[in-house]
Amino acid sequence: MKPKVLLSRVGLWSATAAASAALLIGIAPMTAKAVNIPTEVTEDGKNTYKKYCSPCHGEEGKGDGPLARSMLPKPRDFTRGAYKFRTTPSGSLPTDDDIYRTISYGVPNSTMIPWDILTDAQRASVIPVLKSFSEAFGVRKPDPSISVGLEIRPSEKTVAEGKKIYEEKLECWKCHGVEGRGDGPSAAEQEDDFGFPIKPFDFTTGKFKGGNSSSDVYLRFTTGLNGTPMPSFAKELTDEQRWCLTHYVLSLIKPEENKEK
Ligand code: HEC
Ligand code: HEC
Repeated sequence: MKPKVLLSRVGLWSATAAASAALLIGIAPMTAKAVNIPTEVTEDGKNTYKKYCSPCHGEEGKGDGPLARSMLPKPRDFTRGAYKFRTTPSGSLPTDDDIYRTISYGVPNSTMIPWDILTDAQRASVIPVLKSFSEAFGVRKPDPSISVGLEIRPSEKTVAEGKKIYEEKLECWKCHGVEGRGDGPSAAEQEDDFGFPIKPFDFTTGKFKGGNSSSDVYLRFTTGLNGTPMPSFAKELTDEQRWCLTHYVLSLIKPEENKEK
């Protein structure tokens, strides 16, 4: 599924229909195609990286390419092996599929575009190059992906249950704000591990960086975003509570405010 399709469908959502729409599109998160991801750095990979990625991510993957200077959020510095968008637990390296997916999907609300001008093979070829920038991949393996179970049926009840978790149990509002606008009382002081200011995501925009499907949202607060203050809530919730929280977060999208975006 192309991200553009996903995003325009989100525009059709009303706040109450959001959760049930999530069920329809949420069961088909974008997964890496069955492409062969090379295990070693190849000439193709090096050339593709140099031409398309290094202007932002830098020759040595330090996130310091010539275009990076005035950019915020900064292009990822790959040297620490800290990846935000993963299916793996907090602190773990990402899987190759996770990286492939980000390259294909891009990162909405940043200058990282979906790289659909590259062929599947080119996108796969840069993965060993990115990994070669960090020693972590030489000494550790990614932990197994978290398996996302079957989504429970979204309803007013799951949304109301999720709201309680958001407001009372886990206090997501402290960073993300009561209405999910990324303006909670702790929002202003947030920094990433590289010392750059970072905003808690504004859910009302609907353009989730890690993907808009319900399983994407479920994974984001379960895995946390490595290298950022967004923690992992892996142990606090049952599977059912996770879906409730997911439905509530998706209900915060305000399609009517984002028509032009
Ligand atoms: C115009 C600048 C730009 C170019 C060119 C670019 N990126 Fe990015 N990239 C970014 C920015 C900015 C981010 C960080 C976005 C964020 O964290 O919100 C990013 C993040 C990423 C991530 C991080 C994923 C994660 O989970 O943390 C990966 C992987 C990535 N880029 C791969 C690539 C590859 C591969 C290419 C070349 C095909 C590329 N990028 C080209 C700007 C760029
Ligand atoms: C300490 C502050 C903080 C708390 C508490 C917090 N978050 Fe976050 N969250 C962030 C930040 C910062 C980001 C943005 C990271 C980025 O843009 O790279 C984020 C991102 C996210 C995303 C990813 C959105 C995307 O773009 O894909 C989701 C989903 C999310 N938070 C859900 C939650 C939920 C649910 C809770 C409560 C259980 C919560 N957060 C609690 C700081 C926080």
